[in-house]
Formats: sequence, C-alpha cells, structure tokens
Amino acid sequence: MSENQSYVARRFQLHGLAGISDRTLEMHFKLYEGYVRETNRLEAEIAEILEDGRIDQDEMPAYSELKRRLGFEYNGMVLHEHYFDNLRRHAGGDPPRDGAFTRAAEASFDSYAAWKTDFVGVGKMRGVGWAICYADPVSGRLTNHWVTLHEVGNVAGFVPILVMDVWEHAFLLDYAPAERPKYIEAFFSNIDWRTVEGRLPGGR
Ligand SMILES: [Fe+2]
Repeated sequence: MSENQSYVARRFQLHGLAGISDRTLEMHFKLYEGYVRETNRLEAEIAEILEDGRIDQDEMPAYSELKRRLGFEYNGMVLHEHYFDNLRRHAGGDPPRDGAFTRAAEASFDSYAAWKTDFVGVGKMRGVGWAICYADPVSGRLTNHWVTLHEVGNVAGFVPILVMDVWEHAFLLDYAPAERPKYIEAFFSNIDWRTVEGRLPGGR
C-alpha cells in the first residue's frame, strides 16, 4: 500500500456531552487512533508479502494472521467513526416525531418505542461489542444487531444507521461495569439524529 492510500485518523469536535465525560472521549479518541494506525500497519505488512506477486507456503501462516487481524482493526476504525459521528453536544433525546428515522422505525417495528426497546436490549447484552441499527439497502427496513468485538455479526451490505459502542472502555471512567444501562441512557441523550437520518437509504 502506498503512503497516500493510508488512512488518516479523523478529529472529532466532540466534548461537553451529557453523561459521557470529556475524559472518556479523549481516551476513546486515542483508542480509535490506535485502530487507524494498526489498519495502516497491517495493510503495509500484507502489501510487503504480496510484493513479489505470490504468497509462499511459508508466508501463509503470517499472511492469514494479518488478514484476520485486519478484520478486527478495520472494523474497529470504521465503527468508531460512525459512533463519534452519531453523537453531538446539546442533542435533543428522541428523534423528531415526523422525521425520517421515526418513520423508518415505525415501518420496521410497530413503533419507535418498540424499535428502541430492541436496540437498548441489544446494547445490554453481556459481552464486548456494539449495538448497531442497520438498514437493508434494498427494502430500507431497519434491524438491530449485536456485533461481537468489531467484526463478528456485521451484516454484509447493510448500512449502519445508528452505532453504539458498548465495550466497557466507552463508559468505565463514568460508570461502574454494572451501570451499562445508565451509559445507554446517556448515549441516547446525545444522539445526532440529523446525521443518523442522513445515513438512511435515500436520506441524502
Ligand atoms: Fe470503543
């Protein structure tokens, strides 16, 4: 991979959120930057193996390990960008009642409340990972999914609409491990629904 194809860590103007401290965000940005660095590093190492145009048998174990780790780091980078992007300061809580997200939730579930119950339920699942609301790009239907680590459970080709980090690092400086529901409540009070609606198929 040439230098100019490397990923550059984005800067997020995110601070002063409700219930998620600046200290948590600063630490989280650093973690995110680590995923960007590792993605670039793994891609460079893989490119090195490919340089002579083939993968020798003795290179296969290392190549396989790099490729497996690439799935973890790559998704870690992309999901954190979605997560930070769907948060904002002075957000308003629930989405606008007549907005595109509410309409999509009502078309896919019985109501926005039913969608939220499911999404929050996914967020409370034990384990380390993400709660993600995806849209089916063909039908526009919303479904909520649990993603283990960063890469297990993503639905191929589906569009991430709302992304919530529920790794403990996302809230441990602010809440006890057993207080994940409080963090989820805080997350909801900071959602940037305009960004979320812009991600809906045909939303922009
Ligand atoms: Fe995270």
